[in-house]
Amino acid sequence: MSKMWSGRFKQGAAKLLDEFNASLPFDRVLYQEDIEGSIAHATMLGAQGILTQEETDILCEGLTKVRKEIEAGDFVFVIEDEDIHMAIEKRLTQLVGDVGGKLHTARSRNDQVALDFRLYVLRSNRAIARHLETLIDTLLKIAKDHTKTLMPGMTHLQHAQPINFAYHLLAYMYMFKRDIERFESSYERNNLLPLGCAALAGTPHPVDRQLSAKLLGFAGVTPNCLDTVSDRDFALEILFNIATMMMHISRLSEELILWSSSEFRFVTFSDEYSTGSSIMPQKKNPDVPELLRGKSGRVYGNLIGLLSVLKGLPLAYNKDMQEDKEGVFDSVQTATLSLQILTAAMATLGVNADKMGAACKVGHLSATDLADYLVRTCNIPFREAHHITGRVVALAEEKGCDVSELSYEALASIDSRIQEDVLACLPLEASMNARNSEGGTATSRTLEQLTHIEQWLKKK
Ligand code: ARG
Repeated sequence: MSKMWSGRFKQGAAKLLDEFNASLPFDRVLYQEDIEGSIAHATMLGAQGILTQEETDILCEGLTKVRKEIEAGDFVFVIEDEDIHMAIEKRLTQLVGDVGGKLHTARSRNDQVALDFRLYVLRSNRAIARHLETLIDTLLKIAKDHTKTLMPGMTHLQHAQPINFAYHLLAYMYMFKRDIERFESSYERNNLLPLGCAALAGTPHPVDRQLSAKLLGFAGVTPNCLDTVSDRDFALEILFNIATMMMHISRLSEELILWSSSEFRFVTFSDEYSTGSSIMPQKKNPDVPELLRGKSGRVYGNLIGLLSVLKGLPLAYNKDMQEDKEGVFDSVQTATLSLQILTAAMATLGVNADKMGAACKVGHLSATDLADYLVRTCNIPFREAHHITGRVVALAEEKGCDVSELSYEALASIDSRIQEDVLACLPLEASMNARNSEGGTATSRTLEQLTHIEQWLKKK
């Protein structure tokens, strides 16, 4: 079969070359963007008098027909066509005749692929941001019921200070908020039209790039053609955005896995989002968060993969760049599915407030409050207060109870400067509510943060 570019060749391509060279098996995902781009290009060529109105109409109708064929599953993909761009153009020409050959006027596959891929990436940035919003909304709903639900805040995975469960969820909501902002800023930065750059240096045809940009919904046109056909930063950005988001998801997943274990039992996954064991009939496994944690590996791989492909590439287009797509498609698909399943699993998650509360009684979580009390009311330097509190902790350990459960007499036996009002500082709830500095865990501050996130989400 003769290629569109075969004019200067005496021999046809080897079958093996076709298989190796083709991107059609994966870039067919871009058919919609390709057809949209071609319709805009033909329309612009018509408006500029580069094509007649009749030619433009024939091309646009033909392209619409091709789209319908692809969507109906009637389009025959053959590897010899190499990529989606040439497959569509070939079919167009079969449908409309020789005028099909005019579509590629003032265009190269280099700006064509840059357009199609950019459109796909821009749209994916937006779509993922929308899925993230739904996730945050789900977390908000859970959090609203738990602004007073005590749980142990940890450092080094050791009990540290009491916080509330809503506050813990808010930490993730703020991570996901930043993720959304990253997807959105990538969209804004890259929302420029590549078409009209042609092979690398622009075109002598009197094209109107501004018109093409308007037709395709871009905010403007890229300023340098050589950069435009070489640039894949927009793809790197979405890979990084996804990698960071999946890193956040993997941290939440790790906590969910721990929390659903027998040792914690802070949460219970619904049956709908749990799995069983093929041998142990009693098992209920958290495959969902485990897979979510695992999937960060592949999306990191996709980011490093593309960075490596691009490293050291001379300007402008090189075929290496065809390797840019599969990793991005994979990461976008992984991110989309991950967000959907995480949202569904969270929406049906059981929260065991009593277990969280009971866990707070282990580890002397209000020890810092005792030290703070000694500083504030007895004017004892913090280092000395820390030491005295350490002795109180040792006493509590000896008695087999928590610091918050010691009597006033027991506390005063360690240091006579301790007064009875100390008892108001030590209950776990008091300890949580004492941390009321801006951004702190106190229920009043937690409610402020919930309102902040809610208002922000409402404005989206
Ligand atoms: N299939 C190619 C890709 O994905 C399209 C661009 C080809 N351009 C070229 N000059 N060979 O990168």
